[in-house]
Amino acid sequence: MSRSIAILGKGGVGKTFLAAHLGMALGYLGDKTLVVGCDQKRDTIRALSAQRRPSLVEYLEQAGFDYARFELVPIISQITENVDALELGPSQLLVGHTSGVLEEALHLFDQHGVFSTYQRILFDVNDERFDASHAPLLRRVETIVAVTDDTPESLFVLNRLLRALLIGSAEHDLAARLLGVVHNRAVNPQAFEHYVELSNIYPLLSIGDSGELARLRPQHRTLFALEELSPELNAALLGMLKIAELLRGDPLNLYPIMPLDDEEIWRLAAQQPPEN
Ligand SMILES: Nc1ncnc2c1ncn2[C@@H]1O[C@H](COP(=O)(O)OP(=O)(O)OP(=O)(O)O)[C@@H](O)[C@H]1O
Ligand SMILES: [Mg+2]
Repeated sequence: MSRSIAILGKGGVGKTFLAAHLGMALGYLGDKTLVVGCDQKRDTIRALSAQRRPSLVEYLEQAGFDYARFELVPIISQITENVDALELGPSQLLVGHTSGVLEEALHLFDQHGVFSTYQRILFDVNDERFDASHAPLLRRVETIVAVTDDTPESLFVLNRLLRALLIGSAEHDLAARLLGVVHNRAVNPQAFEHYVELSNIYPLLSIGDSGELARLRPQHRTLFALEELSPELNAALLGMLKIAELLRGDPLNLYPIMPLDDEEIWRLAAQQPPEN
């Protein structure tokens, strides 16, 4: 059972889209869920709601870092009965210092009982480097859900994540496990499928590039808010619910993941998508 979950992947592949949908799916299945936006863009809430609350860092700065009077309520947006969201936000003082912001946030979450209030906490992670800047978060997270498209650039980032996880578990006692990977904006499924086969990672869901999905963000809503769904979008929604079920269940015991050689990724990507 995963309480804390991080969504990781290259810039622009759909981390925020996935975080918003998995948050809604966990809430739909009855779990009290907090979605945490870690991106300076503060766009995680935008994917869920038109509400505007100060970010955690903004609130702290306005309150002159008076930790004794810190409250969570002013920074939390209630999305549904079960789903809340908040943004960590950019910091004037800790510019570019991701680990500093994460450490502050996790410290305050501990002090204010966030990890016992919510059954699931989903982190929409802002960055594709898997280095010390995310150590505070990755040390606390039980499960990682990766997301990628099928370009070589995104597969390289996914591959670096696999390496970081192997090194993390072997050398730094990192407990975080990769549940699997979502293939978003699928254009060249063959490249993705070969990658999955060679690396042993678990393919969770494949979603095509869809104008309807792209229109959700400006409307601040997810597929859960639509009354009618095309078969394709219905499949995406069911897929999100399936992943949420996996996150609520016992950890899967899968074959060990195996990062590929860089050259191998270039070879996969050179394979052409099928002709229509
Ligand atoms: N399957 C899809 N089809 C069409 N548009 C999509 C799809 N998935 C995501 N998008 C759109 O692509 C854009 C980037 O997605 P998103 O913000 O979720 O990616 P991200 O990985 O969080 O990006 P960043 O690294 O900048 O945080 C958004 O405008 C989103 O609405
Ligand atoms: Mg994002």
